[in-house]
Amino acid sequence: MKIVSIVGARPQFIKAAVISRKLRERHNEILVHTGQHYDYEMSGIFFDGLELPKPDASLGVGSGSHGSQTGKMLEAIEHVLLAERPDYVLVYGDTNSTLGGALAASKLSIPIVHVEAGLRSFNRRMPEEINRVVADHLSDLLLCPSETAVRNLAVEGITQNVHLVGDVMLDVLNWAKRRVDGNEPALLARFGVSRQAYILATVHRSENTDDAAKLSGILNALNTIKEPVIFPVHPRTRKIISEMGFRPETHVHLIDPVGYLDMVGLLGSARLALTDSGGLQKEAYWLGVPCLTLRNETEWVETVESGWNTLVGHETSRIAQAVHSIALPNSRPPLYGDGAAAEKCVELLGFGAEPVNSAERTEYANSR
Ligand code: UD1
Ligand code: UDP
Repeated sequence: MKIVSIVGARPQFIKAAVISRKLRERHNEILVHTGQHYDYEMSGIFFDGLELPKPDASLGVGSGSHGSQTGKMLEAIEHVLLAERPDYVLVYGDTNSTLGGALAASKLSIPIVHVEAGLRSFNRRMPEEINRVVADHLSDLLLCPSETAVRNLAVEGITQNVHLVGDVMLDVLNWAKRRVDGNEPALLARFGVSRQAYILATVHRSENTDDAAKLSGILNALNTIKEPVIFPVHPRTRKIISEMGFRPETHVHLIDPVGYLDMVGLLGSARLALTDSGGLQKEAYWLGVPCLTLRNETEWVETVESGWNTLVGHETSRIAQAVHSIALPNSRPPLYGDGAAAEKCVELLGFGAEPVNSAERTEYANSR
């Protein structure tokens, strides 16, 4: 079969790394990079570090408002799909690239596979929530990382071709760990920190960065904590931090975004993760690092139920208090599958993936 995979943002390159390898063992994959992320530290570094194949098409869409960015993607992806006429379009997660890919494919009656389907924060002010809901409702094969995700879809009436496969990010993490293990001392020396004696922080969600009070609350918390903080700064955040004139205390190290293997090494040796990232919440759990999530809700509710992840929002005092009162739970049961999700996703492409929406869509397309 011919499969067009759409990627564009950092977490999608990471997920694609394992799926792409498996897909190419059996199928013809055309990898499309929308260009949503384009700096070397946000894009190229993952293609190099994760041994991803070079994109077959680079659409160069770049940054912009949601409408403008998604609109450009829709048009550019449609060109690729008309030329390639694939059997499936595969989209990942919840970014504007996911939305652009799902919309373009649905208008051409091409069956859609959604990897990481069914997640919900139930907060429609998040652009990601809109993207997930739309992508799920347009998809023909829905590959879920958790039972919660399967249930979320059922509540919205989506029950056909829904499969629990686990999380492909666990597959990638296991792959990366084999490369990172043993190299931590050199890595920590490079960043000037010691094992278990620093906090790893990331902040990039628009709900935090685009609200001056929230971002100040978080940044002040970092300054208040008297412990080294390694903070790889997303370009969105970097821009706003410099505009607001934030002055980090000497223990807060603002660094450029790092490659995935460095990130796994830095996270695995940290005392604590402080983040609003979706991916990092799970990686912290799998690596046995407690996490404080700088949000008031999460899609990864199981990590919170396990006691390893705590929602702390954006207020300085609440974050600082939580940082100093971390208690490690006694157990860490397996979550989000067994690390073989990519294989299951690719298996399902061949079997049990009868398109549910395509008859209607073909009728519609033919009538135009
Ligand atoms: C996007 C996703 C978010 C995901 C995140 C992963 C959407 C709506 N959001 O958010 O779900 O968690 O990616 O990191 O799709 N920029 C650069 N260089 C780059 C990329 C971005 O400077 O290579 C700057 C630009 O100023 C841009 C801003 O970052 O406007 C935001 O980038 P964008 O891709 O729109 O959203 P993210 O915040 O990265
Ligand atoms: N990540 C990385 N380098 C960084 C920051 C994050 O490799 O400097 C990885 C992180 O380990 C995780 C993924 O990027 O695998 C998460 O991406 P991000 O936080 O941008 O997006 P989200 O998961 O919130 O959608």
